[in-house]
Amino acid sequence: MTLADELASIDAEARASLAGAADAPAVEVLRHELLGRSGRLTVLLRRLGSVPAAERPALGRLANEVRRSVETSIDDRLETLRHDDLEARLAAEAIDMSAPGRPVPVGHLHPVQTLMRDLREIFHAYGFEVYEGPEVETDEYNFELLNIPPDHPSRDLWDTLFVAEPGSVEGGTPEAARDGTILRTHTSPVQMRAMRALDAPIRIVTPGRCFRYEAVDASHGFEFFQVEGLVVDRDTSLADLKGLLEEVARALYGRDVRTRFRPGYYPFTEPSVAFDIGCLVCGGEGCPACKRTGWMTILGAGMVHPVVLRNGGFDPAEFQGYAFGMGPDRMTMLRHAIGDIRLFFSADLRFVSQFAEGR
Ligand code: PHE
Repeated sequence: MTLADELASIDAEARASLAGAADAPAVEVLRHELLGRSGRLTVLLRRLGSVPAAERPALGRLANEVRRSVETSIDDRLETLRHDDLEARLAAEAIDMSAPGRPVPVGHLHPVQTLMRDLREIFHAYGFEVYEGPEVETDEYNFELLNIPPDHPSRDLWDTLFVAEPGSVEGGTPEAARDGTILRTHTSPVQMRAMRALDAPIRIVTPGRCFRYEAVDASHGFEFFQVEGLVVDRDTSLADLKGLLEEVARALYGRDVRTRFRPGYYPFTEPSVAFDIGCLVCGGEGCPACKRTGWMTILGAGMVHPVVLRNGGFDPAEFQGYAFGMGPDRMTMLRHAIGDIRLFFSADLRFVSQFAEGR
């Protein structure tokens, strides 16, 4: 084989093997094999010296061309590899802009909060504003000013959670209770706070948390909610109270809900009533949920007692009022047929996530 043929075949072989080089280090190995100090082309060029002088210029030119060609092939291959690599990376990182997004977990209202929000909206339509009071109350506001005498059972140490002074004798003992700071056992003390702060006519609802020293079971929690209502005006009657509560029950449970009033007793209302709705579980025939009566009590109410009006700064000869206190926990249980009040505070997501409609 002539030198010229050898040069040509080196060029062709270099192209072929470069095309098979999988990555940059493989190309560098080939570069070394061809152009290194003892590479094929280098060795061949050294032999140019022994070529007859007449052939030398042409062969020299050819040799230079081959060298440049090999170098260009190497550069091209490196460039191609770099490009392929980039393509592969881009393909791996590609984002499908048309793919649907992954859902972000979003929280929602607790079913009791949903019900209280519904109540707020219903009462808003009847001209009531929200007026809130403290959860930590005094014995005076929670009991005394509401005409609850000192020996009334609801003042019993076992119904009320007392707040002990820091560092005082054991909390929950009569000693700790002496300063009269308690966790409110109902939202009714806010009636007194509202009467003392607002002028007539008063139309307020008070949603809020209450606390009682309860033996917890399926229908009693030591922590629960109430929504209190209070109206004080110059010309208001039990008929207004009845009409309002019937409309609220229909708005909440549907036009067909049955309702009834029963006589009741509260020290701070006179007369007092209990308000029942027809059992939502059995429709009135009687079932375990309604204790076989066909009715479920959702609130207590009545005309504000004259003593309470007076304590609130209103003359009972001129003003009347009505008040009601609802149990939104119980009402939520009725709404969704929930059998155990403890689920509300269980923080069990399997339970609460069933009520996502309150979003
Ligand atoms: N505070 C009463 C209770 O906790 C409910 C109530 C409120 C009754 C207002 C009459 C008027 O049981």
